[in-house]
Amino acid sequence: MDIRVFETDAEVAAAVAGRVAEAIRARPTLVLGLAAGGTPVATYAELRARFAAGQVDFSHVTTFNIDEFAGIEPSHPGSFRQFMQVHFFSGVNIDPHRIHFLDGSAADLEVECDRYEKAIENAGGIDLQLLGIGTNGHIGFNEPGPALVARTHRVRLHAITRRENAALFSGDVSRVPREALTMGVGTIFRARAIAVVATGQRKAAAVARAVLGPITTHVPASLLQLHGRVELYLDRAAASRL
Ligand code: PGA
Repeated sequence: MDIRVFETDAEVAAAVAGRVAEAIRARPTLVLGLAAGGTPVATYAELRARFAAGQVDFSHVTTFNIDEFAGIEPSHPGSFRQFMQVHFFSGVNIDPHRIHFLDGSAADLEVECDRYEKAIENAGGIDLQLLGIGTNGHIGFNEPGPALVARTHRVRLHAITRRENAALFSGDVSRVPREALTMGVGTIFRARAIAVVATGQRKAAAVARAVLGPITTHVPASLLQLHGRVELYLDRAAASRL
């Protein structure tokens, strides 16, 4: 893995935003994989600022978000779709038709997962995937366990994941959906390049297990060691156990 360590969260955000902007300059029709969550908020703010300054044009970019809660509408304030609207899409010129999202309110979630997998394929695959790491080592919503699923699928969220997403549901963990839809590890691995972002002390152990530990489904992020083009963007705190 190509590991890049920065002093602060802000420097990480600037580096990742720079990486994305550069990829779009090189390929204006970039297919960009996106992640919701607290970590990339600063990166999205940086990208909005660069767009406002006329430094990057998203008009031909296609996006695919990695995961979404099941059982809620895309318009629900706790959905990742709304999270992305607030933190990113509303501040840049992405064509709404090129924004792709899993719909956790679809009538048939298996059909919805198949649709998403095919949509990624039809777009020519993901060029650059932004990815976070959960404190439990998950990537997307691929939770640690004895086995992982390759394709986009429905998952049962771990208690810790639901707790860590409670802020999206007014801090009330009981309101966080118990299930979600997520790209599988195979879907994520077909991305031509993956930019993993982790910041803060609370991510240090998961980062160390992902980078230095054995490759195991009990730490889904450890599988990233097998992908030839992973860049890891860390601040000092998240890198402190390497
Ligand atoms: P976070 O989530 O950015 O909110 O820490 C990362 C993840 O769970 O993948």
